[in-house]
Amino acid sequence: MSEQESQVQIEVRNNGPLRVITEKMEIEVNGEKVIKQSAASFCRCGKSQNQPFCDGSHKELEPFE
Ligand code: FES
Repeated sequence: MSEQESQVQIEVRNNGPLRVITEKMEIEVNGEKVIKQSAASFCRCGKSQNQPFCDGSHKELEPFE
């Protein structure tokens, strides 16, 4: 891997979010650019009030796949 390529790690948390870990990422949310440094957690349960990001609401739910 060259120095210009960044490494991305993706974790699927059991009964939780999809966690993306990298140096820096740009995410387009409803046409607006959001910059995240080092990591971001994406909601998989659909209950977050801060979509597409996880806000911890999954902790109140029954286990899901
Ligand atoms: S996965 Fe955390 S709020 Fe949905």
